Amino acid sequence: MGESNGFSRRRFVAASSGLLVASGLSGAAFGRSDEPPRLALQGGPKAVPASPGKLVRWGEPEREQLSAMLAQDSLFYWKGPRTGLLIERFRECCPARHIMTCSSGTAALHMAVAASGIGPGDEVITSPISDIGTVIGIIYQQAVPVFADLVADTYNLDPADVERKITPKTKAILPVHLCGNPCDMESLRALADRRGLIVIEDCAQAWGARYGDRPIGTIGHAACFSLQNSKHITCGDGGIVASSDDRVGPKLQAFGDKGMDRLGKDGLFHAFATNYRMSEPQAAVAAAQLARLEGIASARSRLGNLLTERIRDVPGVVPHGVRAEDRCVYWFYLLRVRPDRLRCDRAEFVKALAAEGAPASAGYIPVPLYGNPVFRQHAFFAGRWPIKELGLTTMDYAQVRCAEAESILATGIRITIHEGMDEAYVAGIADAVRKVAAHFAS
Ligand SMILES: Cc1ncc(COP(=O)(O)O)c(C=O)c1O
Repeated sequence: MGESNGFSRRRFVAASSGLLVASGLSGAAFGRSDEPPRLALQGGPKAVPASPGKLVRWGEPEREQLSAMLAQDSLFYWKGPRTGLLIERFRECCPARHIMTCSSGTAALHMAVAASGIGPGDEVITSPISDIGTVIGIIYQQAVPVFADLVADTYNLDPADVERKITPKTKAILPVHLCGNPCDMESLRALADRRGLIVIEDCAQAWGARYGDRPIGTIGHAACFSLQNSKHITCGDGGIVASSDDRVGPKLQAFGDKGMDRLGKDGLFHAFATNYRMSEPQAAVAAAQLARLEGIASARSRLGNLLTERIRDVPGVVPHGVRAEDRCVYWFYLLRVRPDRLRCDRAEFVKALAAEGAPASAGYIPVPLYGNPVFRQHAFFAGRWPIKELGLTTMDYAQVRCAEAESILATGIRITIHEGMDEAYVAGIADAVRKVAAHFAS
């Protein structure tokens, strides 16, 4: 198709030759003729010739912590040396007065919601594009996730829509720093302060991110992190919840430990909670992993920003929108295609990109959270939703629409970025995007 389009072909050659000279890849991937290169799909050379090497994520530092842990008398978290080290290292990346380790990011979020006093019928405004772990704790507290729409290129909560969704039942805002891209925290925190709301930051995908010069997780009243296997740092599964707020922080520990306040003197249960404790073996690995975080975060930030630089001017493609003053740590990179500017749909674009050797796939989650059957049928507790039956909410998820979020999921292309890649490899991904976009330019 693009072969017959003289204008877009010239435009592509002009744009890509400048890029190739700048990247030091001139002629290497594309040949030296004036003709635009054929897509790899059509038998042309691949824009991304080599794969990055195998990513080594753990080794000697983790082994050292595990051996030290095995010499201990107890593997329990309370007063555990590995848990202590993990908390000490965590505090360096996210300074907070109260920090509790736990079994997952989902657990961290549930503990933050419970410690914030959120209960039956209360509303929590959050993002429809996230892992379901963002809202599980809200629903278990018999509260109501209310979904607000997102900003078109940052994929994070739009403060104006959050404000529209506030009702007398709203208790909290739960921004998700999607892909490790900081939300507009200044606006969200100012809005929350004006309306007397708690802010719980979902930092599961945002290890090492910064909002301006402030570490992620330090603007809201509580911050929740995941140590699940796919995250920047991991212990297989795990989480950390942190708060410097005097109302929320002191309650976190008990909400992860069966309601047991281990510093309490009377031995009585003053709170009802589940067991979300993290054990010493997990803490040992996580503590070692935290020592790797700065290297991982800075590499991902540099490589993701490089990709943006190199595709910024490509017609039909919208790069991941990140504020210059923030540090996005690209859990993955999400670009969008504009079908109105291209003669292909998203699936064709992804297929062509993947054939070029780019680590690309379509979208992220298949539908916004509210579009899942369990939401549409309000089937949360044995097929029922008690708070709806009791009249504590009129929420009908089958009627919820967040137009921008739906459009993001329909037009987004996910590109893997990780610390095992180098600049040349990411430049190759950018070449692939330019090549495919030029081919399909309308
Ligand atoms: C944004 C977000 N929130 C919450 C979670 C839940 O974390 P976990 O899987 O550790 O329970 C995840 C995990 O994928 C996530 O990406």
